[in-house]
Amino acid sequence: MARISEEVINDILQKTDIVDLISTRVALSKQGKSYFGLCPFHNEKTPSFSVEPERKIYNCFSCGEKGNAITFLQKMDNLSYIEAIESLAEHANISIDFSSFKKENPHQKLFDINRDAENFYKLYLSSTKQGVQAKEYLKNRGIEETIIDKFNLGLAPSEFDLLYKTLTDKGILVSDLHDLGLVKQGKNENFYDLFRDRIIFPIHDEYGNCVGFSGRTYLEKDNEQAKYINSPQTVIFTKSNILYNFHSALQEIKKSDRVVLFEGYMDVIAAHRSGVVESVASMGTSLTTDQVRLIKKYTKNVTICYDGDPAGFEATARAIKLFEQEHMKIKIVLLPEKLDPDDYIKKYTPDALKNYINEKWVDHLEFAYIKSNMNIDFTKMLDIEHFKKTIFDLIKNTSNTIIESYIKRLSNDTKVSIESIRQDFNQYTKRNIRNITETQKKALPIDHKYLVAERNIINYFMKDIKYIASFNNEFGDLFYINPIARDIRMVIEDLYAKNEAETGIMSVTEEQVIAALNDEQLHFYQTKVKYKMVELLDKEFSDFFSVLQQYINTLMQKDLEEKIKNAPTVVEKIKLAEYRDVHIKEVKHGK
Ligand code: GTP
Ligand code: MN
Repeated sequence: MARISEEVINDILQKTDIVDLISTRVALSKQGKSYFGLCPFHNEKTPSFSVEPERKIYNCFSCGEKGNAITFLQKMDNLSYIEAIESLAEHANISIDFSSFKKENPHQKLFDINRDAENFYKLYLSSTKQGVQAKEYLKNRGIEETIIDKFNLGLAPSEFDLLYKTLTDKGILVSDLHDLGLVKQGKNENFYDLFRDRIIFPIHDEYGNCVGFSGRTYLEKDNEQAKYINSPQTVIFTKSNILYNFHSALQEIKKSDRVVLFEGYMDVIAAHRSGVVESVASMGTSLTTDQVRLIKKYTKNVTICYDGDPAGFEATARAIKLFEQEHMKIKIVLLPEKLDPDDYIKKYTPDALKNYINEKWVDHLEFAYIKSNMNIDFTKMLDIEHFKKTIFDLIKNTSNTIIESYIKRLSNDTKVSIESIRQDFNQYTKRNIRNITETQKKALPIDHKYLVAERNIINYFMKDIKYIASFNNEFGDLFYINPIARDIRMVIEDLYAKNEAETGIMSVTEEQVIAALNDEQLHFYQTKVKYKMVELLDKEFSDFFSVLQQYINTLMQKDLEEKIKNAPTVVEKIKLAEYRDVHIKEVKHGK
């Protein structure tokens, strides 16, 4: 690829009136030499976004976004550097042939064909008799013209090959239509359309290319059919890395610095109607790491708003795990009465949904508490015990304030006194001694052998889930020396769960693990974990395991020394010393 020279770029920037450009997107008013307006890159009520025509730059004093006309277009319109320059050149009437600068997208032809299909479906909805009936259906569901336009909804006709005929008449090759999954070939070799008698939801990638479609039944007669069908997987369409409505919502996602994630297309549309416009949905499959990373490119804040039924709860729990692996900030909205967002606005109002999402969210601890609380029979001792332990695991590595508040809540819900719950908790976590804080860890120079053990043991985690189970059992699933090692363990654990859900088999392959790791984790895996030995022996696992127990021991010992030193009374000193001697011995010689 050739490069555009500095001179040409400077010339284009010189000829661009940055105030004119930005005025098309932001209302600006002049104050002195500069112009001010509300920053388009974050939400604000008083203007802190300034444009300086002389220096040809913009700057937001509040969020720190700054740059020139090129970066402005890149950010606002999600354009590449070259595309932004091209757009400016066009406005400044500078003619340059940009073709040699651009990487020709090898799939452009397919995107164009999908765009033609999208237009065909749109036209069919807007201008046919069948379209009138389909629009009636949409209207009954609260979807009016403006929403149809906004989401580019369309309609697939009932004729079995109208799209095929129309597009091939235009000169489009049937082989391309076939590759895109838009037509199929029957036994008699005839081609027919995949989507018939369905409302069409076009699906776009993050750059706005139309990559596939989903079609929903709307006629009584089709009640027995699958409610939705999707384009098959093609070279441009992989369901697992696309989020519905992502491109359209991108400006709002950046501006509000959050994404609201839903289960279904109709939910995204319902949310949009209620004014929650930074909304996206996965494609009817459970959320994937790729989708999480797509979101993370633009914001670290996600609000999960899945259906309020048990399946929605399970899906939320899985999504939380994935977002946590990528260190995102998570809010969870639990809709009441098993409603989904679409039902919710039908039963209440669009505004009510917006308020519910913005005000009634809970954090992941609260969610886990509610989720485990749901299936408990509080008259059964074992249920209560199990519940308590689940919550103890949940809170054991959080702050004292959080621990105290959940202990109170547990007491309230289980009708057991606060005192005895607190005692149970301390015993369960051996909290006074075992609760290892980050500062304690830093105080201890970490011996290389501990790190090596933690890394190597990851190889076992991939071999059999039983190794993860015994690890978590002993050290807790939040334990780590190096956080990357823990994150990899969580990725593997999650893959086991996913594979089991999908195939019923509890296993993972190394390829799957590699595909699921982010760059940092992958580097760590390949340089520090990947094991040369052919066989992974149980004996060796227990050796690593003991090394890690030693690590905990050393930490505990150190912590105890400190506590003994600081204990206010002699009696307490003696108690702690006794604990140290007994407990440390106990662990050293195996329990
Ligand atoms: P409505 O039922 O029209 O309100 O749509 P919805 O989006 O609320 O659907 P629902 O909550 O039942 O399902 C959530 C998502 O799962 C949908 O948006 C689709 O992506 C997917 N889905 C639902 N039913 C089917 C189906 O029969 N086949 C396929 N492939 N996907 C489906
Ligand atoms: Mn629905």
